[in-house]
Amino acid sequence: MLNFEFKNPTKILFGAGQIAKITAEIPKDAKVLVLYGGGSIKSNGIYEQVTKALADHSYITFGGIPANPEYEVLLEALALIKKEAVTFLLAVGGGSVIDGTKFLSSAALYTGDSPWDILKNGIRTEVGMPFGAVLTLPATGSEMNSGAVITRAATQEKLGMGGPGLFPIFSVLDPTVIQSIPTKQLANGITDAFTHVLEQYMTFPTQALLQDRFAESIMQTLIEVAPRIMANPKDYKAASDFMWSCTMALNGLIQKGVPTDWAVHAIGHELTAAYSIDHARTLAIIAGNHYRYNFEAKKEKLAQYAQRVWNISGEDTDALAHAAIEQTEAFFHSLGIDTKLSQYVSQYEGTAESVQERFIQRGWLGIGEHKTLSPTDVAAIIKMSY
Ligand code: NZQ
Ligand code: ZN
Repeated sequence: MLNFEFKNPTKILFGAGQIAKITAEIPKDAKVLVLYGGGSIKSNGIYEQVTKALADHSYITFGGIPANPEYEVLLEALALIKKEAVTFLLAVGGGSVIDGTKFLSSAALYTGDSPWDILKNGIRTEVGMPFGAVLTLPATGSEMNSGAVITRAATQEKLGMGGPGLFPIFSVLDPTVIQSIPTKQLANGITDAFTHVLEQYMTFPTQALLQDRFAESIMQTLIEVAPRIMANPKDYKAASDFMWSCTMALNGLIQKGVPTDWAVHAIGHELTAAYSIDHARTLAIIAGNHYRYNFEAKKEKLAQYAQRVWNISGEDTDALAHAAIEQTEAFFHSLGIDTKLSQYVSQYEGTAESVQERFIQRGWLGIGEHKTLSPTDVAAIIKMSY
């Protein structure tokens, strides 16, 4: 096991009816800005629960943060924070709203020239404006981690940011919120969380036995509950396991002491930036071919995953590893998720070359667990995924 430090300060309030508890979690003298997305919270009762809980607080609201939180929209919220002297942010939404709130948490206290520099120059946020979250869509794990991904449509960029100052103070995980999530977004959530585990697991054997078991158990749980969630999002028991699995998939725990990959996300983000394909779907497009392309480096772990997660039996490492890749894509297909770029966009020629060029420009010359996956390799994986 590799050396590691682990600290996760986010308080989780899990279960039906927990939104009411935010009253006690936000300082009484805070000036609160409630941030939300396109309005789903207005029709599913979540907004009422939040405003009821804030009845004795001073709060204002900002809606309209789009999926793949857009920098220009967030600048409007930033101006409001400054104008109204806001002191506490409350994200009510999925990964996009929570990530947008993290950006604002950082930007509100940033003293440099342009807040875009936080993303462009990879500035770590040591201290941000305090914020909490009411999660409405299990998927990203943003509710219990310190990372965010922000989009800038004008330049077709989608860049990450983070730092210890960006953990939510608290996050409410109420599994009943998933009742109103469209099937497409449920499929996205399952796929995103599943791929988060893969990114932290599908590397090479390191004898970190417990982390492997943690990762495998999250994937097994997602596989088990996926058909139940897709068939009936009101199944509270399945919704609970789904929600907690998504959080545990990316709250830092399973990545401690092990190498991590994250190439699928690095490539996937480019597909969202270029074509606005849902985040999770870009991962499904890339993951299988990433594992095919890097087969020799990853086959030991692929074979272990085949046996332990998919219960595929056999002695031949190569055969098991190949079966694992097929099974993973079949799982995505079972959720209605396509795994080829051409199934999402008709004009995809040149994507590989343009992503290759961007990675070179950014100096991303070696990604993946060995830091050896070059822009040329990235282009080859994208071409395999057309
Ligand atoms: O905007 P509203 O009207 O709320 O509708 C949203 C949105 O259209 C809807 N939705 C959310 N909760 C709902 C609901 N509809 C009905 N009922 C509910 N309870 O779902 C749509 C998608 O929401 P979004 O927040 O965009 O989805 P998700 O949670 O998948 O977040 C995706 C974003 O997170 C980033 C992605 O890149 C993408 O920008 N990620 C963040 C990560 C992190 N911070 O750790 C890691 C991930 O890998 C990912 O990159
Ligand atoms: Zn993701």
